[in-house]
Amino acid sequence: MKKISINQMPSHIGEEVKLGAWLANKRSSGKIAFLQLRDGTGFVQGVVVKADVGEEIFQLAKSLTQESSIYVTGTVTEDTRNSFGCEIQVSSIEVLSLAEDFPITPKEHGTEFLMDNRHVWLRSRKQHAIMKIRNEIIRATYEFFNDEGFVKMDPPILTGSAPEGTSELFATKYFDEDAFLSQSGQLYMEAAAMAMGKVFSFGPTFRAEKSKTRRHLIEFWMIEPEMAFVEFNESLEVQENYVSYIVQSVLKNCKLELERLGRDTSKLEAIQAPFPRITYDDAIEFLHEKGFDDIQWGDDFGAPHETAIAEAYDKPVFITHYPVGIKPFYMQPHPERDDVVLCADLIAPEGYGEIIGGSERIYDYDLLKQRIKEHNLDESAYAWYLELRKYGTVPHSGFGLGLERTVAWISGAEHVRESIPFPRLLNRLYP
Ligand code: 4AD
Ligand code: MG
Repeated sequence: MKKISINQMPSHIGEEVKLGAWLANKRSSGKIAFLQLRDGTGFVQGVVVKADVGEEIFQLAKSLTQESSIYVTGTVTEDTRNSFGCEIQVSSIEVLSLAEDFPITPKEHGTEFLMDNRHVWLRSRKQHAIMKIRNEIIRATYEFFNDEGFVKMDPPILTGSAPEGTSELFATKYFDEDAFLSQSGQLYMEAAAMAMGKVFSFGPTFRAEKSKTRRHLIEFWMIEPEMAFVEFNESLEVQENYVSYIVQSVLKNCKLELERLGRDTSKLEAIQAPFPRITYDDAIEFLHEKGFDDIQWGDDFGAPHETAIAEAYDKPVFITHYPVGIKPFYMQPHPERDDVVLCADLIAPEGYGEIIGGSERIYDYDLLKQRIKEHNLDESAYAWYLELRKYGTVPHSGFGLGLERTVAWISGAEHVRESIPFPRLLNRLYP
């Protein structure tokens, strides 16, 4: 008999098959038992009818505990009442392991309890759906950048430099030297772009940030494209096309998951390039009109500011041309103003905050050298980065998209801790 997975069932209607599954839930009466089965590829209902299977198998079905692992044999039938479209009429059950009392039951649990049980919380329907959406975003990312002619290049994780400022670094020993866990692969990606033209990376990044918000992780995954001969506005076009592509891919390939999460998909359908752009100057004026008196020109935006700006649009919005003082050392100055730089943050709708930070990079040797000095960075650690400006320097731009914030937004999760398998948070290294 053919052993198949749950997601293959729709093409086996009428056939007798074998499934390996866990029991997610069950309900039963004296004559019939309904087993909610899951195998990682999906969820399906198994129907056990006492009159068909006999007393022994029926009692076995009734005795199964939540998360017991079993082999189920039966006939796949069509069932138009559920969105998956089929179920299995069980003829026999083989128990692999009868599970002990499973900590996560269908009742409500507190967040800390769920986080302590993350290793098994991942099995629940909602978490499963979010992980499938995360996977689809990663898949669509590789597809988009490969189709656009980008080359995947992997920057190191152990580094000697700090692209985004020195205050949030995880220091570690590298034999006798001091090293840091990468907070962004950008500087290495600039070197890679000078070799390959258009490149992208996808990897873990680390921020020793003492932030405890629904948007901050200590370890998060970032997609960092970098493009030679691409100027600021051209980079914005790549960003809006990329974000539209991943949203549309999730809509197309994760219908069941979005439905399971109760996500309002009409909001996602509207996510099509181009995206609106607003300058930092205009954003400050807008906030003042909205009654935010706490913010002055030169200040960085907080979450309430970003949310107020985002609420004015039904698509992600680029905030462009931030003051030089609140952005990293490597950003290209505005050609006509020395107080702002050629950068943009992309703010997601519905209060999910900044999902992309990007800019054109300084390509003039002397200016970059001056900036490294002004920011009190150790020049010897950046010598190689500065040297890139000696050998055929060109205008270039790039950006970083935070995967977990993007997953949280698209899936409608309330916190980034649910958009990564094992979140690293302030005070949480377990499990
Ligand atoms: O704005 P950031 O710090 O930009 C950079 O690191 C650039 N070097 C990227 C580049 O140009 N190649 O981070 C980029 C994105 C943010 O927009 C946000 O989505 C995410 O990374 N991010 C975080 N996500 C979760 N937790 C945190 N602590 C994050 N910090 C940044
Ligand atoms: Mg940023």
